[in-house]
Amino acid sequence: MDTKNNNRIENYREFFTKEYLMGPNSLRLLDEMLTKYPLKEGGRVMDLGCGTGLSSMFLAKEAKVRVFATDLWIAAGQNAERFRKWGIDDQVIPIYADANTLPYAEGYFDAIVSIDAYHYFGAKKGVFEEKILPFLKRGGVFMAAMPGVKEELTGEAAELLMEWVGGNKDDYDTFHCRKWWLDLIGKSSEYEVVLDLDLDCYEEAWSDWFRSGHEYGIKDKAFMDRGMGRYLSLMGLVIKRKQGERNEYGTTDRI
Ligand SMILES: C[S@@+](CC[C@H](N)C(=O)[O-])C[C@H]1O[C@@H](n2cnc3c(N)ncnc32)[C@H](O)[C@@H]1O
Repeated sequence: MDTKNNNRIENYREFFTKEYLMGPNSLRLLDEMLTKYPLKEGGRVMDLGCGTGLSSMFLAKEAKVRVFATDLWIAAGQNAERFRKWGIDDQVIPIYADANTLPYAEGYFDAIVSIDAYHYFGAKKGVFEEKILPFLKRGGVFMAAMPGVKEELTGEAAELLMEWVGGNKDDYDTFHCRKWWLDLIGKSSEYEVVLDLDLDCYEEAWSDWFRSGHEYGIKDKAFMDRGMGRYLSLMGLVIKRKQGERNEYGTTDRI
């Protein structure tokens, strides 16, 4: 990993708590993604599935972008209060919205970032092209980091995962390997995958979650101890919306 930004995460330790974390430490996931694929300063970014807004804060402070902090499970009012307390309310706007019906103008964002969230709504054919991509400017990027598996699970490993998610088939179907995600996204004249990797921060991100004392973290740790960790990975993905071909009117927009 590029060592340039290695220490900035230490400035955020006070947020590694059960009050804010909702899974493997989103700040570590985002820090690694931004180190490997920095975003242009001053851009307009949607943080899709921002949860309690930790990643939105990190984007505002470290990537120096304006953020639309978008989430479904956490009320926008609660995030507004946090952003005010953290002194970032001029830079980060809380929005309550479903990723399936986003309320934004087409081509509005320089980047859409989704940390530990995309697998909940993106694991179906067509979601990326139809529901996410249209909101990116040409040349803009979609950046995601999410839990998955090293290889698609079968047998005892699949049974353990099903037990971990409490028998919920929808939750079970959020866990896939990198190849599965790349096949789902496929190839297109409209976009290209420019980065896909297993994140190096896997151990630390999960350990922070377990140490937070969150009741779900305690449950997750029990399944890791039973061997679930052998099969899991944290995946990072960056997809770039291609610049359009020049058309007969000399613009790059589709007509
Ligand atoms: C595990 S939490 C992670 C939150 C945050 N990104 C983080 O890492 O701390 C998953 C988030 O995805 C969001 N989410 C799930 N489905 C969604 C949807 N259809 N539209 C918008 N957000 C969604 C939830 O609201 C939740 O906050």
